[in-house]
Formats: sequence, structure tokens, C-alpha cells
Amino acid sequence: MQASPESGVALAHLSDVHLPLPGRVDWRDLLSKRALSLWSWRRKRHKVHRPEVLARLVADLHAAAPDLIAVTGDLTNLGLPVEYARARDWLDALGDPARVMVIPGNHEALVRGAWETGAQAWRPYWLGDDGGGFPWLRRRAGLALIGLSSAVPSAPGRAVGAVGAAQLARLAVLLAQTRKEGLCRVVMVHHPPLDGTVRARKRLLDAPALRAVLAREGVEMVLHGHSHRSHHQEMATAGGVAPVIGVPSASATHPEPAAWHLYRIAPVPGGWQIALTARRYAAGGMETSHIATHHLTRAHAAP
Ligand SMILES: [Fe+2]
Repeated sequence: MQASPESGVALAHLSDVHLPLPGRVDWRDLLSKRALSLWSWRRKRHKVHRPEVLARLVADLHAAAPDLIAVTGDLTNLGLPVEYARARDWLDALGDPARVMVIPGNHEALVRGAWETGAQAWRPYWLGDDGGGFPWLRRRAGLALIGLSSAVPSAPGRAVGAVGAAQLARLAVLLAQTRKEGLCRVVMVHHPPLDGTVRARKRLLDAPALRAVLAREGVEMVLHGHSHRSHHQEMATAGGVAPVIGVPSASATHPEPAAWHLYRIAPVPGGWQIALTARRYAAGGMETSHIATHHLTRAHAAP
């Protein structure tokens, strides 16, 4: 059975925001990898990530009035305290923390300790319903939204991620629990979980372990960022096939135009229907560039 295209809960997804760096950066913050990344930003990246593009996307997103908004990491560039503070202002303008949720990307953890310190600035946006941290769980309108952190420091020239054994163990518990509750489980992780989506130097180091948990406990959809490109993939799980979807950067003009995704998730007998609309930046205005509808059949869904 099909749900109408307008029905269900509306979940917006954007990623890799890369807000502009302040004009001046304290030289004391430019240790190791940050100096290299600042050079990269000044040379090239500031031309790719445009605040006016991001503003256009956010205005378009607000016009759609989604019920929930997921931001899958890389809001900053160097993971500096001033960037965390600016990103907090941006999150506050995006929406209420009750419906806006965030996970970190590799840029938030550019150097050791950056994420651990900066995370406090975004706390209301990553708190789980139980007041806990990663992996957090929020139950909203029949959905179980689960956020993982894959933000770890890596050597210059690399942008790898790792979820870690502790988060994976907790993820398995949360997936099993919310399956029993009959919820539609959406997992968010900055780094793509499927092999070959990004180059080896940008990969999720423990992707096989993450996939093993998702395959065993089941999941209804996985959302990621990191590649700055669109990805529409699938993975097999014990409960059925699940879409694995990556959204381009919300501020970039390259390698793909900036975009945000809208997922309309509606319960249907014996499963869920997820209708995806991609809203893409174009010189003449925002364009709807792709629509896909996934029909998920699940034993734990209401008959
Ligand atoms: Fe990233």
C-alpha cells in the first residue's frame, strides 16, 4: 500500500556546512594539522564553500517547514572554539534543539581535544532523550533517530573516522530496543558506512564493524555526509534492505552544487514508505533534482 507523497513525518537532512572561518585566526591555535587546513581554506576551500549558497539553502529548508532537521557534521573547518561558537549561532537560527539534531564530522576533531572541548557548545543539539551523549537516541513521531560520532583526529592529509567499540555496543542495544517498540530506525553517521564511497584516506576505519551491527540488528535508513556528493545506496540487513543516503555539502559549489534532502517517512501496513526529495542550489533558484521512493517491508512494523 502507498502513502500519499505529502504524508508522514518530514525529516530534513543537510551536511558539511563548513561555515566561513573568521578573518583572523590566533597563531597559537595553528598547531600541526590546523596550519595545513588553514592554508587549504585560504587557498581554495573558501571559494568552494559560500555563505550566500548556505543562506539560500537554509531559507529553502525553512520554507518547507520540516518537522525535524538532521545535520550530519563538518559545520567547522579547523574545529576552533570560535568556529564552534559561530556554528552554535547558526544552529540556533536553524531551529529549536527539540527538532534539530547534530552529529560531528572529522573537521570538528581536526586536532586532539577539539571535539571534546567544542561539543559542549552544541550540547542541546546532540543530547539524547535520556540526557545522554553518543550514540544518542531521540524518539520522534514514530521514528527512532540515532546519532553516532565518527569524529576522531587523523594525520595531515587524512580525514578518516571511527565509531569505536563502545558506541557500537550501545548502538546494537538501541537498535534492538527500538525495533521491539516498532519504530522506524534512522541512524546518522558523518562518514559513509559502505566501502568505496570515499577514498581510503577519508574512510570510516571501523565500517565493517558498523555494518555488522546494522546488518544484525536491522535499520530502516542510514544518513551520512563527508563526501560532498549525493549517494543513493542500499545495504542488506536481517530485517530487510535499507537505503544508505549521502547528501552533498550545504554550502559548496563543487564537486556538486549544494543540496539538502527532505525525507517524508510514512507508516504503511507492514513497513514504511520513505520519499526522498533533493533540493539543489542553482543559479536561477533552487531545483528539485531527484526524487526516489523506498518501500520498506519490516516484520517489526505495525501490520
Ligand atoms: Fe567530513
